[in-house]
Amino acid sequence: MSLSLTSKYLEIQGVAQTFKTAKGDFPALRNIELTVGKGEFVTLIGHSGCGKSTLLNLIAGLTRPTEGNLICANREITGPGPERAVVFQNHSLLPWLTCFENVYLGVERVFGQSSVVDGRTRENKAQLTARTHAALELVGLSHAAFKRPGEISGGMKQRVGIARALAMAPQVLLMDEPFGALDALTRAKLQDELLDIVATTHSTVVMVTHDVDEAVLLSDKIVMMTNGPAATIGEVLAIDLPRPRSRVQLADDPAYLGYRKAVIDFLYTRQAHVEKH
Ligand SMILES: Nc1ncnc2c1ncn2[C@@H]1O[C@H](COP(=O)(O)OP(=O)(O)OP(=O)(O)O)[C@@H](O)[C@H]1O
Ligand SMILES: [Mg+2]
Repeated sequence: MSLSLTSKYLEIQGVAQTFKTAKGDFPALRNIELTVGKGEFVTLIGHSGCGKSTLLNLIAGLTRPTEGNLICANREITGPGPERAVVFQNHSLLPWLTCFENVYLGVERVFGQSSVVDGRTRENKAQLTARTHAALELVGLSHAAFKRPGEISGGMKQRVGIARALAMAPQVLLMDEPFGALDALTRAKLQDELLDIVATTHSTVVMVTHDVDEAVLLSDKIVMMTNGPAATIGEVLAIDLPRPRSRVQLADDPAYLGYRKAVIDFLYTRQAHVEKH
């Protein structure tokens, strides 16, 4: 484990989010305190409606908190930025563009212009095209590059969304249940690929999931959220399993099973009751 892993990269300080609704104010999140180190893989887990997407949107800069601060690389998050790429819960592809074009769009926005911040020069069309193809290949979609979203399955659409985010080589990868719509085998394959990619890119990842095994397999930290309204972080579980991790070897590893049980206890014993609202 490198020293840089312990450094603060993403800081969430006293964050609350209240939505204005027709029935009055709805407090979705309260008192969120979280620090994520550079290169750390953090998952957010909690029951449906507890505010996981709300928190991810705040980190993405798509919404502003009602209270508190969010800081990335010592700068306040005031809006979206190329260093924070998002994979949305509902893939959000542009339906009139092909898979290739959907990914290319993001690549062009980041690499099609020079950046004073990290001293990059503008890449040419051949380089942008190569980046786009490489990202599609990474998620196993080269064969569908020139199909439109309406012509591919839900799982494939989700993979285009992942390719688009990865192709932008972000410092922080924010993912909202990226594998939720996939069958178990594809899901396992993409989880393994994600582990390989993150080991190479050292990206900091914040990922929302409902899946306990996925959370334990991938994470350095599992952030377990209480039920809403006014949800907050109930507990943060550090997953101290050596990397690289193999799902086959972990299947009967007592430490893995212990972490798994801790998350299940939190979700189904301590936070079993989901309020209707
Ligand atoms: N724009 C909004 N206006 C009003 N209420 C909202 C808004 N966005 C979210 N909420 C409410 O805030 C709560 C948290 O929503 P959020 O989408 O963050 O949950 P989630 O944990 O991502 O759920 P799921 O697992 O089902 O995706 C819910 O009660 C939701 O109805
Ligand atoms: Mg959600």
